[in-house]
Amino acid sequence: MAISKCAIKSLLKNLYPDFSSKELIDKLDSIITLAKKERCRDLKNWDKRLDKLWYKQSENIMYVLYADLFAADAAKEAKLKGLIERLDYLTDLGVTNIHILPALESSGDAGFAVDNYRKIDPELGTMADFKRLTRAAHAKGIKITFDLVLNHVSDSHKWASELKRGNKKYFDYFIIDETKTGKSRLKIPDMFPEFAPGHWDYVPEIDKYVWATFYSRYPIKGKKYNNFAHWDLNYKNPDVLFGMIENMLFLANRGVDVFRLDAVSYLWKELGTDCLCLSQVYEFMYIFCYALESLAPKATILVEACVANNDLVKFFKKDASAQLAYNFTIMPFLWYSVIRENVIMLSSILSFRSFIPRNCSWITFDVCHDEVNLERIEANVPGKKGQMITKFLFDSLIKDSKGEPFRFKEGEKYGYGVSGTKWSLLGGDLARNEKEINIVIKKIMLINAFKLSIGGVPLFYQGEELALSNDYSYKKDPKKSMDSRFVKRQKITDEMRERRKIRKTKEYKVFNELKKLIDIRKRYKIFGHGRTRIKRSRNSKLLVFERKFGKERLLVIMNFCGKQQRYLLKSAFKDLASGADVGKGKIYIEPYSFLWLYHNA
Ligand code: GLC
Repeated sequence: MAISKCAIKSLLKNLYPDFSSKELIDKLDSIITLAKKERCRDLKNWDKRLDKLWYKQSENIMYVLYADLFAADAAKEAKLKGLIERLDYLTDLGVTNIHILPALESSGDAGFAVDNYRKIDPELGTMADFKRLTRAAHAKGIKITFDLVLNHVSDSHKWASELKRGNKKYFDYFIIDETKTGKSRLKIPDMFPEFAPGHWDYVPEIDKYVWATFYSRYPIKGKKYNNFAHWDLNYKNPDVLFGMIENMLFLANRGVDVFRLDAVSYLWKELGTDCLCLSQVYEFMYIFCYALESLAPKATILVEACVANNDLVKFFKKDASAQLAYNFTIMPFLWYSVIRENVIMLSSILSFRSFIPRNCSWITFDVCHDEVNLERIEANVPGKKGQMITKFLFDSLIKDSKGEPFRFKEGEKYGYGVSGTKWSLLGGDLARNEKEINIVIKKIMLINAFKLSIGGVPLFYQGEELALSNDYSYKKDPKKSMDSRFVKRQKITDEMRERRKIRKTKEYKVFNELKKLIDIRKRYKIFGHGRTRIKRSRNSKLLVFERKFGKERLLVIMNFCGKQQRYLLKSAFKDLASGADVGKGKIYIEPYSFLWLYHNA
């Protein structure tokens, strides 16, 4: 155990000065002891079998999916069973880690408004089905990533229902506006300005406002916006912390390997601050990590926080805190490079990547179930220049391709997000002929090669391997129409998947090329372990970086433009894609192509 019980006790004392630290640590201990008793033999064996740093290995290929959409052909209430039947499709691609998006009983936000942490959404199946699914996945070597939505619960969760009933104990589980006006100013920007403005939710049953960072049902008394709300939890109450830890351990005992801590940066609130990554948040990470490691020593924590790099790296502590975090900074700059055909910004962002402990790793992604998030651009490039880049990218993704605006307030010049599938955002739907289609496919593979070789864990979003287009049917559903993220949350049928077997289709090309790259990555440790160094180059079209691991060397050269580029190689390598030897001297990189050059001394 990397962090001692004694250290956890003093953290609890710090966080809860008005409580007895002995009672708090005893309570935590009893929760862990109970969970340990409940852990089944299969999972105990699994714990023994896994390598401590399994998530850093080049074999760790992550794929994020919605069980119901991915198993669209499966019968209602049997979606998890349907997912089990479709695991072979994922292993065929090379996936070894599936992030199953929220599958618990919920009242909205595509599952993130959790009503019950112990019950699977009845439309998908039961908790027994979930357990069957994790067991079947483990048998194929697939790990399970699952959300722990810990910043908020839905306003139908039992804690919220108790509050609505006027049960005083539960008033302390949430944060109530003392001014009773719902007007206390919070320094938090609107998360979803289009459909969930403000940060307070009026609760008619008790005639009070509660804190709701993300979604409110009644942001204004008497005016209903949504059919559900996310009520922020009050972590100043230790019962909230213990309740959430119990939920986490319950799910760990059903086979979850990675907990994605949703919106974790907001966990601790102080009026008058931006409530982002306050120091207490990191203290909680130690406690969650301690509890999880005590039960499931190889399980890991993935941080979902779109915050400054300096704040993000504080989640990474050697052997004692989170092990994984999404890299929200790379995402928009990667898109900018592809659209602008210029790598200068991306290369300088990558050069200043912070140093993180060896046991930690970034998740690299370009699309996911949410929008392409543009917020980190202005945070990294201040002033007019940052605004120009954001506006350029926003406009290009919307006007020149098929993106849908997100985080866009009426009357503003541009928004901070764009929704769409990778294929549509790259202009695939507007391609007029085979040549243009092939260019889009080349760009897709360029992005994929980047994700697979930059270091860290590559993440793929359901359907991107099939080059799926946007699906606009959400616009007809009043519960979804305001939220453009649904444009890429579409059903994937078996027939759609079968197209990957038909030669010449885009599905065939993208699926098989991706499969080939994944296969190469898995064969060389250097893709997972080791360090990346960006090579400065005067050529704004070429991104060049080098990885080193022991005696292995990997040189990656990526051409982000439509013209062939030249590069001077200083030593000889093996080209991993073709297997051919490449001598030193001038080499040429084709439009929108890349080289993975390997050397083992
Ligand atoms: C995270 C999820 C997003 C959700 C939000 C609120 O950002 O990725 O889909 O809406 O948290 O839970």
